[in-house]
Formats: sequence, C-alpha cells, structure tokens
Amino acid sequence: MASIPDDLIRRLQGARHLVIFTGAGVSAESGIPTFRDAQTGLWAKYRPEELASPEGFRAAPQTVWDWYAWRREWCLAVQPNPAHLAIAELERRLPRVTLITQNVDGLHQRAGSRAPLELHGSIHRLKCFKCRRDVGDWPADASDIPVCECGGLLRPAVVWFGESLPEAVLDAAAGASQDADLFLSVGTSSLVYPAAELPFLSKRCGAFVVEINPQPTPLSARADLCLQGAAGEVMGRLIGSGWGNQRIRQ
Ligand code: OAD
Repeated sequence: MASIPDDLIRRLQGARHLVIFTGAGVSAESGIPTFRDAQTGLWAKYRPEELASPEGFRAAPQTVWDWYAWRREWCLAVQPNPAHLAIAELERRLPRVTLITQNVDGLHQRAGSRAPLELHGSIHRLKCFKCRRDVGDWPADASDIPVCECGGLLRPAVVWFGESLPEAVLDAAAGASQDADLFLSVGTSSLVYPAAELPFLSKRCGAFVVEINPQPTPLSARADLCLQGAAGEVMGRLIGSGWGNQRIRQ
C-alpha cells in the first residue's frame, strides 16, 4: 500500500475546510458489494435499469421492493469498518469537515458521522412513488409494498437512474467543495455524474485533491495525490499517527 506523505499529514493538520467524498468502495470492507467492480459489483449481477429506475419500479414494483428490502437487511447486518470510523474521527479532530457520500447504506452515521450529505438518498427511508412525500421509516413487516395516504406505492428514498439528485443536498455539496482547501475522494469510481464532478470543481476552486482507491479512476490523472489501497487501511493510517492530539495541544 502507498505510504502517506508527511505533506498530507501537514495539510490535514492545517485544513481550514476538509471535504470527504465517499462512494461504495468505502463500505466494501464492511462486506457490502460495490456497483461496478468486475465479478463482485452489483451491476455485474443485476440490471440497473430494471432495479434502480422509475421504469423498472413501474414494470415490476414487488421485484424492485424485494431487492431493496434484501439490500437494506444486508446494510443493517454489517458493521462500519475502519474507513467509516476514521472519517468520523477526522470530523471530531478538525475544525470543519463536510462529509459527502453517494452511499445509501447509513454506515457513516452508524460510525458516528454527524450529518453526511447523502447525494443519492438513503435506503433506510421511504417516500411515495406517486406524490413524492417523504414518509420515513420502513414498516416492521416489509414483505408487501406499503401504500401512501394518497394511494401511491411507497419506495426507498434513493436516487434512481434518470432521477434528479435532491437539490438542496447537491447545492450544499457543491458549496462545500468550492470552499474546501483539502478534498479527499474515497472509494468511488468517479463515473456517475453529477456527483463525480465535485472533486474536479473543488480542484478548480483551489483545493488539494487526494484520491484513495485501489484502482485508477478518471479522477486519478487530475488529483494532486493518489493513495492506492483499500479505504480502511489508508484512512486508518491517515489518522493513526496521533497528530490529532498534537493539534489540540497547539
Ligand atoms: P462504484 O461501484 O462505481 O465504484 C466503487 C469504487 O470503489 C471503485 O473505483 C473501486 O476501485 C473502489 N473500491 C473497491 N474496493 C475498495 C476499497 N476496499 N477501498 C476503497 N475503494 C475501493 O461505486 P460508486 O463510485 O459509489 O448510484 O458509484 C456511484 C454510484 O453509482 C452509486 O452511488 C450508485 C451507483 O449506480 C445510484 O444508485 C444512483
């Protein structure tokens, strides 16, 4: 695994506004499959247009509902890993951290992150497919699709292909990316827009951009630093040297 340059530790220590941007790779070490990794990725086994689109839900609502109910159980059954824990620790150590995630699994919150900006929604909440109202939690018995007061079917409050990202969340994420002086992109393929635009936006606005990923991505050539490795290992080493205590004593 790549070693952590001293320069990055110094940048973390002095960061005015750190943005951490995460994707499915950050939850891989918890046992949740990514989307695009060959063989193990969800999209290697399932068709996104059938399971993650309004058209797919319209055509086969129970199939889509069952798939999300299964994935939600999986998310609840696993634990946050050292990457989630390290990110929550950075939030405690540094004066200003904005966490932006594309993940819908809720593992950042379970690791102690305060208020991640969930660009693609959350698998743990429901909304109405017809009137779009947020209706909160899943029912205890999730075998049948619940029905909204308006008569519409409920669905998970995640962003599907062909749908817009929640505007206020995207605005907040773009604002933070523009303001950041240090930007960490962790475990994302940098392929899905508009989320993938954020590190490029941050770089254009002057941030030092670091990518943490075992594989190269379209961001790699533009990032100021690429740390090749698994998120849990790299993030664990980033916080592991005790520099947070030094900062507090300064
Ligand atoms: P992807 O599946 O596209 O990419 C996962 C990335 O994680 C890849 O670049 C892997 O190399 C990397 N990776 C794998 N294991 C890792 C590890 N242990 N540590 C660090 N990185 C690792 O997932 P996303 O980039 O999150 O959208 O995909 C973005 C969006 O596409 C998702 O939010 C989802 C999906 O379709 C929606 O559902 C709307």
